[in-house]
Amino acid sequence: MKNKKMKIINLMIRNFLLIVPLVLLVFSFSGITTTSIIAETHKEQQYYLEIEEQYNGKEEFRELPIELENPYKRSKNGPDLKNVVHKANKEWLKKWIDNPESMIPNARMPRLMLSESDIDAVLAYLSSIADSDIPRQKWDEYLMKNEDDMTDDEYDNMSELSDKGKAVWGRARCNLCHPVKGKGGAVDVGPDLGRLVEKVNRDWLFLWIKEPKSYFHSTQMPRYRFSDQEVRQLVEFLMQSYDFKPEEDDGESDQDVSGDELENVGTEVETVEKTSVSSLLPEGSLIEKGKRIIELNRCFICHNIEGVSDLLPIEVAKDEPEESFANLLNDVRCMTCHTIQGEGGLFAPELTHEGSKLKREWIKGFLQKPDIIRPLLKQMPKFNITEDEAEKAVTFIEEYFINEDIPVEKYADSKPSEEEIAKGKEFYDVKGCRSCHAISEGGIVGPTLKRVGDRLENGFIFYHLKNPHLEIPDGIEPNYQLSDEEALAITHYLMSCKDAEK
Ligand code: HEC
Ligand code: HEC
Ligand code: HEC
Ligand code: HEC
Repeated sequence: MKNKKMKIINLMIRNFLLIVPLVLLVFSFSGITTTSIIAETHKEQQYYLEIEEQYNGKEEFRELPIELENPYKRSKNGPDLKNVVHKANKEWLKKWIDNPESMIPNARMPRLMLSESDIDAVLAYLSSIADSDIPRQKWDEYLMKNEDDMTDDEYDNMSELSDKGKAVWGRARCNLCHPVKGKGGAVDVGPDLGRLVEKVNRDWLFLWIKEPKSYFHSTQMPRYRFSDQEVRQLVEFLMQSYDFKPEEDDGESDQDVSGDELENVGTEVETVEKTSVSSLLPEGSLIEKGKRIIELNRCFICHNIEGVSDLLPIEVAKDEPEESFANLLNDVRCMTCHTIQGEGGLFAPELTHEGSKLKREWIKGFLQKPDIIRPLLKQMPKFNITEDEAEKAVTFIEEYFINEDIPVEKYADSKPSEEEIAKGKEFYDVKGCRSCHAISEGGIVGPTLKRVGDRLENGFIFYHLKNPHLEIPDGIEPNYQLSDEEALAITHYLMSCKDAEK
C-alpha cells in the first residue's frame, strides 16, 4: 500500500514537470512577465568564489568544440513505444502494464492501475502505430527447437554458441548496468534481465544489441562494436541460459501465474485477436479508446508514442559525423558511466582532465583492450573500439581534457638515477602507500600502481602527491603534506614501475 502511495507521489512529481511550463504559459497570457516571477540572478562575489574553489576544486574546463549528450538528461526516461509490440510479446506487455514491478524487479515505471479492458485497448493502439514488421534474421532451425527436441549434435552446437556468448557477455560487462535476478547492476541504469527470455523476440534482441539507438534514440545503453557473429553468440546465451529465464519452482512465480490469471490471459488473447481480425468499427473504436487511455494516463510524459498529442517537445535525433569523437562518446554512451565537465554518471573516473593525467599510448591501448586498474568491482567494458576510433579519441582527449595546473611537461624527460629511485621507494614504504595500493603486492582500495610508469604522466604523479585532493576533493587518500623533495623522489620511483616486457 505504502508502495502504491509512493508511486502516485512519484507520478505527481513527474507531472509537475508538465505543469511548470503550463503555469508559465498562463502567466504570460495574463500579462505577468516571466522575468518578474524568476528572481534576478545574483552576482557572485570574488571572496565566495575563492572559498568555493577551495572546497570543490578548481573547475577549469577547456571549451569543447562538440556538444556533450548527457544520457541522464533525456527528456523521456521510458523507451519509445512505436514498435514495442515487435519487441515484447503481448502476454508480457499486458502483465507489465498491469504491474511493472511484478515483471522486472527494478522497474521504474509506476503502476497505473489500468483495468484489463483498458490494457487491451492500449495494446490495440500500440499495435496500430507499429511498423508492419521488424527486420528478421536468419537463424539455424535447430536453434528454434526446445532443448529436449534437439539431437545431441544440435545440442552441442547450441551450447558452444551459447558458451561463446557467455564470454562476450563477460568481456562486455553487461552485468555492470544490468542486474540479473537482483545481482549486479552497479551502474544502476538498466533493467534486470532475469526474465528476459519471457519478454523479447530474438530478432528484436539481435537488432537491439547491434544498434540500440535505432530503436530508442536516447538510450543509455552503449553500442558495442560487435561483429554479427558475436551478437549471435550473445543472443544465444541470452535466450538459452537459465539465468535469463524465470525461476520455475519458486513460490512467487507460481503466484504470478495463478489459475484464474491464466484463465484471464486466455480470454484476453481472444479479445485482442478478435479485434485485430474484425476490420469494422469495433476495432477502430478499441484503438481510439486505447489512444484516449494513453492520453488520460499521460504515458507520453515518459514515452515517445506516435500519434498521441504531446505537450512535451519531441527530441530530434541529430546526426553526428561518423568519425568524430562526439559520435564515439554518444554512441558508446561513455557518459552513462563517466563525468565530463560536470555532466554524466559517477560510476567511473571523471574524464575532464584525463589528457593531463594519462599517457597517450596507454589511453589508446586501454580503450581498445581495457585492463583492470581498480580491482574493486569497477571495470571498463570492452567495446571493441577500433584502432582508428581510439586514435581519434586520444587526440581529442590530449587536446581538450586537460588541466593547465598539472605540470605535464616539467618531468616528462627526467631520467632519474638508481639512487633517486631507491630513495623514492623508501619513502613509499615508510608512508604506508602499500596499505591501499599494490605494486608487487599491497591493498586494493586505490588503483594498482604496477605499471603506473606506463600509465600516468610523470608530472601528474608529482601534482597528485603534492595534494591528492586537488583532482578528487573527496578522495580518501590522505594528504601527506609531502615536501617537494619527497614527492619528487616518490615520483621517480613510480615512474620506474613499468611493464618489464616493453
Ligand atoms: C513516470 C514515467 C512513466 C509513465 C507515466 C509510463 N511509463 Fe511506461 N515505462 C516507463 C519506463 C521508465 C519504462 C522502462 C522500464 C522501466 O525501467 O520501468 C517503461 C516501459 C514501458 C513499456 C515496456 C517498453 C519496453 O520497451 O520494454 C511499455 C509497454 C510501457 N512502458 C507502456 C506504458 C503505458 C501504456 C503507459 C501509460 C498507461 C506508460 N507506460 C506510462 C516509464 C513510464
Ligand atoms: C552503460 C550501461 C549499459 C551496459 C554496459 C549495457 N546495457 Fe543493456 N541497457 C541499458 C539500459 C539503460 C537499457 C534500457 C533502455 C534505456 O533506458 O536506455 C538497456 C536495455 C537492454 C535490453 C532490453 C531489456 C528490456 O527488458 O527491455 C537488453 C536485452 C540489453 N540491454 C542487453 C545488454 C547486453 C547484452 C549488454 C552487454 C553486451 C548490455 N545490455 C550492456 C544499459 C546498458
Ligand atoms: C559501463 C560503464 C563505462 C562506460 C560506458 C565507459 N567506461 Fe570508461 N571506465 C569505466 C570504469 C569502471 C573505469 C575504471 C576502470 C578501472 O579502474 O579498472 C573506466 C576507465 C576509463 C579510463 C581510464 C580512467 C583512469 O583514470 O583510469 C578512460 C580513459 C575511459 N574509461 C574512457 C572511456 C571512454 C572514452 C568511453 C566511451 C567510448 C568509456 N570510457 C565508456 C566504465 C565505463
Ligand atoms: C587510504 C588509502 C590510500 C593511501 C594510504 C594512499 N592512496 Fe593513493 N590513492 C588512493 C585512492 C582511493 C586513489 C584513487 C583515486 C581514483 O580512483 O582515481 C589513489 C590514487 C593514487 C594515484 C593516482 C593513480 C590513478 O590511477 O589515478 C597515485 C599515483 C597514488 N594514489 C599514489 C599514492 C602514494 C605514492 C601513496 C603514499 C604516499 C598513496 N597513494 C597513499 C588511496 C590511497
